[in-house]
Amino acid sequence: MLDIHSTAERNKSPAKKASYPAQGLFQANYDPSIESDKVVKIRATYELFIDGKWTPAEGGKTFLTLNPATGKPLAQIAEASSKDVDRAVQAAKRAYEKSWRSTSGRDRGRILFRIARILQERAREFAVLETLDNGKPIRESREIDIPLAAAHFFYYAGWADKLEYAVPGQRFQSLGVAGQIIPWNFPLLMAAWKIAPALATGNTVVLKPAETTPLTALLLAEVLQEAGLPDGVVNIITGASQTGAALVAHPDVSKIAFTGSTEIGKSIARQVAGTSKKLTLELGGKSAHLIFEDAAIDQAVEGIVQGIYFNQGHVCCAGSRLLVEESILETILSKLKRRIRTLRVGNPMDKNTDLGAINSSEQLQKIQTLVALGKEEGGDFYEPESTPLPTEGYFHRPCFFSSVPASSTLSRVEIFGPVLTISTFRTPEEAVQKANDTPYGLAAGIWSDKGGKIQKVARGLKAGVIWANTYNKFDPCSPFGGYFESGWGREGGRHGLLPYLEVQS
Ligand code: NAI
Ligand code: MG
Repeated sequence: MLDIHSTAERNKSPAKKASYPAQGLFQANYDPSIESDKVVKIRATYELFIDGKWTPAEGGKTFLTLNPATGKPLAQIAEASSKDVDRAVQAAKRAYEKSWRSTSGRDRGRILFRIARILQERAREFAVLETLDNGKPIRESREIDIPLAAAHFFYYAGWADKLEYAVPGQRFQSLGVAGQIIPWNFPLLMAAWKIAPALATGNTVVLKPAETTPLTALLLAEVLQEAGLPDGVVNIITGASQTGAALVAHPDVSKIAFTGSTEIGKSIARQVAGTSKKLTLELGGKSAHLIFEDAAIDQAVEGIVQGIYFNQGHVCCAGSRLLVEESILETILSKLKRRIRTLRVGNPMDKNTDLGAINSSEQLQKIQTLVALGKEEGGDFYEPESTPLPTEGYFHRPCFFSSVPASSTLSRVEIFGPVLTISTFRTPEEAVQKANDTPYGLAAGIWSDKGGKIQKVARGLKAGVIWANTYNKFDPCSPFGGYFESGWGREGGRHGLLPYLEVQS
């Protein structure tokens, strides 16, 4: 017979503090297994991809993209001025009017399927390039970023000739030129999230990747051509904030889709207010895990580790706040310490690496400043000090602060790094209240073996995505997006088509 109390009993804190073996003892001594960088050819310089052609930026302005694991340059990238942005938007507008708006759904779908298949065929090349430019472990780019990017193209390819089922009984049309601005944490995946629904619905695109991670978007340009996408339907322009701002301001852009910081998202919302431009925003988060004493604790600890240390915490829906039922705090802390001692921080190209490089020295500095502030504010800090860090590049150990008050800076701001804050609750109501006590509302994780409790708690949470007994699971069929300062609108699934359509009832 199933004893429903057994897990809770088992999880009760040990009477005595457990003693742990010396740090480092848990780290397996694997030989390095380094992925080869020979599978991808990185050019010395990259130009802008406008109207199906590579073209230099006006005045020849360029910037460097680095490999954050070494701090060394990878390539010189063209920096698009507002004139270049205009050239790209005009190309997208011409392609829209001349061909793409009247291309049948079946033909649009056919091209999207081809893009998906080519991405799968060239997956290894994309994974290596993503890891070199971004710093994330090769295991993640190979198993998560690239397969999910291909899956997005497959998914929206299927919608292209079935749009009447997305908005049953309603008339609809495409919008025109979509301006899309993406961040550095999932460079190719964010490009896929943006481009696939835009093309499926018959819009054309000007995409601006982040300045620290432009390379996979530029390689995607090759795939688009190989798949037979007509010139001008997707244009890829590189640059930093000024390039992005010029795209947002352009009068011939009908829709802006932005993923990035809440601060820039808010400024874009202000810029777009009062115009006819449509807008979707995917912004920051301070998502909470809620762990109840009846949870399967080892599974929960693994989920927490995946949720915050995965991709160095560079995940908008990272589970960066941990709320633990008071009775199991000691158990969780001891298991968490034990687990994060085993994590390997280092060369992202090593298949054994768990945490790769922080994407830029600016981001590393931001994380270090916040950690220093957390220590000043009096949080109980833990990091596996014996975990070795590479001597070059930008790296940070996985760490956490326990017993942090809800009012502390670390409990409130998005750190975007491998830093977890931990506090406790006594009742499900208090857990929900604490989880919701944030200006964000992107995601949450509930850990309990009681289905009824999960349902009840989930209903109280203000978060766009809620995982139960798992975390950070993505699927193109399921919509993603946030409440409050986490953003407007949804991407993914049928919902992800709607921001790219004008629907008349
Ligand atoms: P950011 O918001 O400045 O950059 C995101 C994208 O927006 C980049 O392509 C950038 O070039 C572009 N951009 C910057 N200023 C712009 C403007 N005025 N108009 C139009 N486009 C503009 O993010 P940043 O500075 O790279 O990271 C800062 C913080 O933002 C991080 O520490 C993290 O907390 C958060 N962030 C959140 C992300 C998410 O997925 N929600 C992704 C990246 C960063
Ligand atoms: Mg880079």
